[in-house]
Amino acid sequence: MIKKAVIPAAGYGTRSLPITKVIPKEMFPIGGKPAIHYVVEEAVASGIEEILIVISRTKNLIMDYFDHSLELEAFLERVNKTHLLEKTTVPDVHIQYVRQSHAKGLGDALKIAEPFTGCDPFAVLLPDDIYVGKPALAELIEIFESYNENVISVKQLQNEMLKDYGIIKGELVSEGLYRLKEIVEKPKIFPPSNYAVTGRYVFNSGIYQYLSEVLPDFGGEIQLTDAIQLMLKEEVFFAKECTGDRYDIGKEQDYIRLLNR
Ligand code: UTP
Repeated sequence: MIKKAVIPAAGYGTRSLPITKVIPKEMFPIGGKPAIHYVVEEAVASGIEEILIVISRTKNLIMDYFDHSLELEAFLERVNKTHLLEKTTVPDVHIQYVRQSHAKGLGDALKIAEPFTGCDPFAVLLPDDIYVGKPALAELIEIFESYNENVISVKQLQNEMLKDYGIIKGELVSEGLYRLKEIVEKPKIFPPSNYAVTGRYVFNSGIYQYLSEVLPDFGGEIQLTDAIQLMLKEEVFFAKECTGDRYDIGKEQDYIRLLNR
């Protein structure tokens, strides 16, 4: 059973500057709630009981959001606006936080989670990928529980978008399920397919060994994709085409599409 999830939220959000100088991408509003609220809800709906959010110095807003605001609650009671109290509630799940001191990549953010997940298999949800409809993580956990192997979410994208994502090559196992053969980070030319990795993963604890073997890329980042590529050679990995609609809120058009749906 997958009970623990990691939400890495320590990146700079450079694609969404200048607003991300002061407002983390994970706090972008969607219908009055921040994006990360929906991702925590998805985790809870998928059976997760404990969450670790990886933050950075500039992301304390995220901790504040999931904490009780005692003054606000007392104020609403004092002025007889208790009907608004429900608007201050957040998903009922245990959340802890750890800081990544330098944004050295998604792979580095995950390495920091090892003491939290220990030997247990665990989920990862990227908070800038928002799913509407069936919780994508629940679909991955179903696969993990059937096969007991690592699994990542994928979606088919248009050709011009493939250069922005990790792209896989897979072998069809059953409808919407692929055995992973190859994964390439942001291919500039010749992507191995049009299936992109879309921000949900279930790993067994073996991933940490591979993360420790990955060397930083030219920008000094440890890429999760590189660790998956190494792990593929030794272990079985599946890619599941998730059925919900997915929006990358780090891309302005996608964020606007989500707001207008
Ligand atoms: P992205 O690749 O989208 O990076 O990270 P980013 O910094 O958020 O945004 P851009 O690309 O510069 O606009 C995917 C997820 O991994 C987290 C991010 O917060 C995001 O949720 N991340 C990334 C970390 O936690 N630490 C890092 O060092 C890098």
